[in-house]
Amino acid sequence: MTTIGDVTTARGGGFVRTRRTRQSEALRGLVRETRLDPASFVYPLFVTHGVNERQPIESMPGQSRLSVDQLAAEAAELRSLGVRAVLLFGIPASKDAEGTEAYDDDGIIQQAARALKQADPALAVIADICLCEYTDHGHCGVLTAAGEVDNDPSLELLARMAVSCAEAGVDMVAPSDMMDGRVGAIRSALDQRGHESLPIMAYSAKYASAYYGPFREAADSTPQFGDRRGYQMDPPNVREALREVAADIEEQADIVMVKPALAYLDVIRVTRESTDLPLAAYNVSGEYAMLKAAAANGWLDERGAILETLTAIRRAGADIIITYHAKEAARWLNER
Ligand code: PBG
Ligand code: ZN
Repeated sequence: MTTIGDVTTARGGGFVRTRRTRQSEALRGLVRETRLDPASFVYPLFVTHGVNERQPIESMPGQSRLSVDQLAAEAAELRSLGVRAVLLFGIPASKDAEGTEAYDDDGIIQQAARALKQADPALAVIADICLCEYTDHGHCGVLTAAGEVDNDPSLELLARMAVSCAEAGVDMVAPSDMMDGRVGAIRSALDQRGHESLPIMAYSAKYASAYYGPFREAADSTPQFGDRRGYQMDPPNVREALREVAADIEEQADIVMVKPALAYLDVIRVTRESTDLPLAAYNVSGEYAMLKAAAANGWLDERGAILETLTAIRRAGADIIITYHAKEAARWLNER
């Protein structure tokens, strides 16, 4: 017993001591509930026509648009870091109303897929399936005469893109367009062409977010009029996210996704609790840009903030993290 003034404390008794297991890194390591592993990262790649191109993306410091000849070196670097999956986005040679390069067997994504699989057959190559990088109007589907995004005719083109990517050798397709019925349309088109074993990672709960700004600069996919609020989800909604997820599972999605990640950790959590399917979260371009800008100004400890952020996405319930931080985070994790 210790008496300080008229306060008496019993040494060692009377309250819970949560600090006991925080006394050393070894003890903290034993009781740690969430771990990061480069094997759960997916690294997005922007691929462009041309030779010897490494065009830096201004609003995403450290990221570049690469030409196909640069991809073998990229694959080797990812392999050495333990990052085993990439998500491909293409910048086409030209755009038109129907986004034809998206489903051209010699399109930029198809060329990139072949180059990556040749460089490293064990790398998981995932193709983002959407028309917005390929359409001159910048929307994710085709338009009606009145300029509305026309759901059902878009499905056929998205399915064609998925089949074309499958024939180019990708390991998975990831529809990001948010048309209704696209997972089912892609599934049956793949099955009909003998790709019944190719998995679909569905961008199920994809919100109409301001955090996609830097990506649209990177992929040159800003809508030329209007916005995406007629097909992407309204940010205030969470019950609706579960309906989206349930619909995609019904249509045979193999992996579901929540996007963006940071402002939607609650959506990741409820999705985790609603399904046993693998769950991906997309740590999007604006989230990356925020941390990079703060770090560049010396306002945040870069490594600490990035690893804490990625850990939070895992803690919320994501199995897979699609992130532009994949390479640097893997490097830091491997150093430990
Ligand atoms: C295309 C697509 C977008 C992103 C992934 N796929 C942009 C959009 O929907 O406007 C955003 C990724 C990011 O911001 O990192 N549909
Ligand atoms: Zn799109």
